[in-house]
Amino acid sequence: MFKTIEWTDDGVRMIDQKRLPTEEVYRTCRDYREVAEAIRTMVIRGAPAIGVAAAMGIALGAKNSSAKSGEALRADFEQIAGTISQTRPTAANLFWAVKRMRGVLEDLLSGCAPDAPAIARAKAGLEEEAKRILAEDIALNEAMGQHGAALLPASGTVLTHCNAGALATGGYGTALGVIRAAVAAGKDLQVLADETRPFLQGARLTAWELAKDGIPVTLITDSMAGHFMKLGKVQAAIVGADRLAANGDTANKIGTYTLAVLARENGIPFYVAAPLATIDMSLSSGDQIPIEERSPAEVTHWGGVPIAPPGVAARHPAFDVTPHRYISAIITERGIAREPYTESLRTLFK
Ligand code: MRU
Repeated sequence: MFKTIEWTDDGVRMIDQKRLPTEEVYRTCRDYREVAEAIRTMVIRGAPAIGVAAAMGIALGAKNSSAKSGEALRADFEQIAGTISQTRPTAANLFWAVKRMRGVLEDLLSGCAPDAPAIARAKAGLEEEAKRILAEDIALNEAMGQHGAALLPASGTVLTHCNAGALATGGYGTALGVIRAAVAAGKDLQVLADETRPFLQGARLTAWELAKDGIPVTLITDSMAGHFMKLGKVQAAIVGADRLAANGDTANKIGTYTLAVLARENGIPFYVAAPLATIDMSLSSGDQIPIEERSPAEVTHWGGVPIAPPGVAARHPAFDVTPHRYISAIITERGIAREPYTESLRTLFK
């Protein structure tokens, strides 16, 4: 199996998701700015993987810092964290990781004499924490898989959107992790993968990683989902998330809302799989989730080739918000939440 991201002595190494599925190549970022750029340009993407990359970018920036005092290291940290925070505004895990790394730095620096050994210890501590965030992410995806597998049917077709797999996380995946766990438990499932316009994460990434795993996958364009649902060809839908509000409203890849409404219309359960780090309990509803607006060129062009007339106006909101009433259950590493989500999610955080 491939590694989505890892810490190496040379820097932060990640599989280049822009080159998949035609080439499996890895890129090593040797500076935190390169990590920020990799997140912004979607060399690495998917909220949990972005969180891991953010933590490793911070650890890398701290490692390269020439700070000689705690105050100087704190200032460098804020500069690094500021650059990394400005990459993907919707992904809750990004801000969660920055906050966690800041907390670790404060713990490591507090009460220490601001000498060279203390600075070295703080840098090493940040590196350990980033590695821990990666290891935890894989473990909690596996836990999510165990909780969620029971929700999927014993046999049939599960529809998914975008890529919420090993590539979108430290490994194993959220939505695809649940499918993986169900298949491992003996369920006879196949996957219908939406291609996911305009960045084609479903076609390029989900189809690639499921095929690699030997899980049967059929690719469809986004506009075919309703057709197959109406024909009774879909038994469940499951997606990941970029940010949930405390009431269960879920921001995920553009097109998710459409699918959730179609699933409801056709009596199909619609599940969201996401770790607690993706749930933003400071927001009471999805209306408050910032939606990333990406370049219209990603809509008007593919691989640098125009697919629309020159100069045509285009929009590219990268995410939409699915109201909680369309979500049958939210699968987390601590268990499954159901309506009323305001209560069930709060209970999971206790
Ligand atoms: O723009 P992307 O590719 O980063 O969007 C990714 C998604 O929307 C995923 O569904 C989400 O991050 C969950 S990944 C486990």
